[in-house]
Amino acid sequence: MAINRKVQTLDEFTLQQLRDFPQATGELSNLLRDIGLAAKRINVEVNKAGLVDILGDYGTTNVQGEEVKKLDIFANNQMMGVLQHGVSCAGIGSEEMDEFVVFNDEISNKSKYVCLFDPLDGSSNIDVNVSIGTIFSVYRRVSELGKPATEADFLQPGNKQVAAGYVVYGSSTMLVYATRRGVNGFTLDPSIGEFTLSHPDIKCPPNGKLYSVNHGNFFKYEEPVKAYITACQKKDKTNGGPYTQRYIASMVADVHRNLIKGGIFMYPGTSDRPEGKLRLLYECNPFAFIMEVAGGKASNGKQRVLDIVPTKLHQRTPFFVGSIEMMQELETYLKPE
Ligand code: AHG
Repeated sequence: MAINRKVQTLDEFTLQQLRDFPQATGELSNLLRDIGLAAKRINVEVNKAGLVDILGDYGTTNVQGEEVKKLDIFANNQMMGVLQHGVSCAGIGSEEMDEFVVFNDEISNKSKYVCLFDPLDGSSNIDVNVSIGTIFSVYRRVSELGKPATEADFLQPGNKQVAAGYVVYGSSTMLVYATRRGVNGFTLDPSIGEFTLSHPDIKCPPNGKLYSVNHGNFFKYEEPVKAYITACQKKDKTNGGPYTQRYIASMVADVHRNLIKGGIFMYPGTSDRPEGKLRLLYECNPFAFIMEVAGGKASNGKQRVLDIVPTKLHQRTPFFVGSIEMMQELETYLKPE
């Protein structure tokens, strides 16, 4: 049987990228491959979620008498496990854990990177078989190599990200990651168990017709946000419309769709939650980085998301991200002259 060499796996791709940088140590490639491995394991469990639910296993014990973990805890443990046992990560911060974790062993202390992640975003959608995802972000340490990572490594602004990505567990499973060189998407081929390059060099269309926001919160948004949403509803053929509202409350799927098709995603602050819902380090920074590399834009309504200097691990921020021209139009509402 002829082997199709046109298919490039995630591992081959990251190795090939390395060849262009003879001085590179390969640590980042290792780390991305580790995340790919965790994603495959999480994918297997996500695909079984309906079955497990029918059997009523979650939160109970299995036949071996072991406690069956909830899917988000399982995903967290997979991400942490591969990174802890790999050779490229000095510590992690996770949306699922109160504090960051420093691995503090001989190999990890020599590792250049730390990783922040939301192991399973949109997990309230699991029960109803809607797409969910994993989001990750990689930073080069600022603390001294050879010593344990410190809090300063985790509290860096998003503009210091070295790489960021996400996995969407949808009608197919895709891993998309960005470095400063570009954004590339890999679709999991279940027949060989490999992520294969399917969306090389993704660019977000400069304009689109999709807007994504929770309309249920409309009356809690600030007036400029309401005015922009109303303008989206009023778009017609004469001014670039009509627009269509698309929002499934799974940010990974919502932003992925808008990245590919062109669109804008918003999670503004509300009167009862001025900082919004989304976390700067685990959700907003990675998507802001990916979108900017792809040619789009991200803001908190007042400034570039990537320039926010975080003060705490689980900090939240209003978030607007998407096609550059749509973001520019939004800004005319948020910053009226
Ligand atoms: P969770 O992981 O708790 O389901 O949260 C999902 C996040 C994000 O993915 C999504 O865009 C947003 O919360 C949806 O929030 P609303 O339901 O408030 O619109």
